[in-house]
Amino acid sequence: MKQIISIASHKGGVGKTTTALNLAFSMSRIYPGVLVIDLDPQGALGIAGNVKRKNKLGLMDLIMGRSTPEEIITYTKDKKLAMVGMGNVEIDELIVFEEAATSGKLKEVLYDLAQGFAYVFMDAPAGVGPITRTMLSMSTGVLMPVNSKNTTAKSIPLFLKLIEKIKERENPNLSLEGLVITMLDYSNAHEISIRRDLIKSFPPGILFKSFIIHNSKFEEASLKGVPVAMLKGGEDLSGNYMNLALELLARQATQNQSEDDYAEELF
Ligand SMILES: Nc1ncnc2c1ncn2[C@@H]1O[C@H](COP(=O)(O)OP(=O)(O)O)[C@@H](O)[C@H]1O
Ligand SMILES: [Mg+2]
Repeated sequence: MKQIISIASHKGGVGKTTTALNLAFSMSRIYPGVLVIDLDPQGALGIAGNVKRKNKLGLMDLIMGRSTPEEIITYTKDKKLAMVGMGNVEIDELIVFEEAATSGKLKEVLYDLAQGFAYVFMDAPAGVGPITRTMLSMSTGVLMPVNSKNTTAKSIPLFLKLIEKIKERENPNLSLEGLVITMLDYSNAHEISIRRDLIKSFPPGILFKSFIIHNSKFEEASLKGVPVAMLKGGEDLSGNYMNLALELLARQATQNQSEDDYAEELF
């Protein structure tokens, strides 16, 4: 089944964009047909626009009818990962983008783009506005990055409730893939205690065992708009996201297995 995974959180600066791009990159090493789409019109760091600056067109240009899907997709050199950035966003177009979400046009455009890809990752803006809701209404899964610096386990259930609501009302296919701790500084006792609290706060299977360590190379890569693996000396760090990709695939295999078992019980 085609997987459409939203990387979302009500918070900004928790590593959504970094996770979307690097997880998509790792997935593209093990799975054919991976696409990552940037859906944050106000994101300071984009996904594909900066890759060698070859393609400045993006989702906004598609929404505005200025470009075709073929024109806005950029590929990594090895062609394994397809990327769509936001493109040229004029300030007065921000509202057009939100309106496209509300009217259903954004959803149509995203389904169109996703055609022909097996695994699609979508990078959400912060918050629970119309763009995030549109994404969740058409996703098969949602993965929530959790910043190990200032996260409180208390604020997370609010977002999980929104996911449940969308699942009940609009999209029964939506699964919570899990929460992933990002930017973890292992030498910082406070962060380690936050991680411990998170592990205690959620039932098993919610928090990914894989986590992403804090390293300035991730920032450097974000500024260039490339996966960290593409930076000199970044290959080892990309292992963090490879572990997450493998864990995600393992979780999904278990989910499918339990759905198959359930189907067998029915027939
Ligand atoms: N593992 C990491 N280590 C260090 N810096 C990181 C890491 N992950 C993300 N960052 C940096 O933190 C900032 C916020 O990350 P970003 O992915 O843009 O978050 P969001 O999309 O949730 O706003 C960016 O400057 C990014 O480069
Ligand atoms: Mg972002």
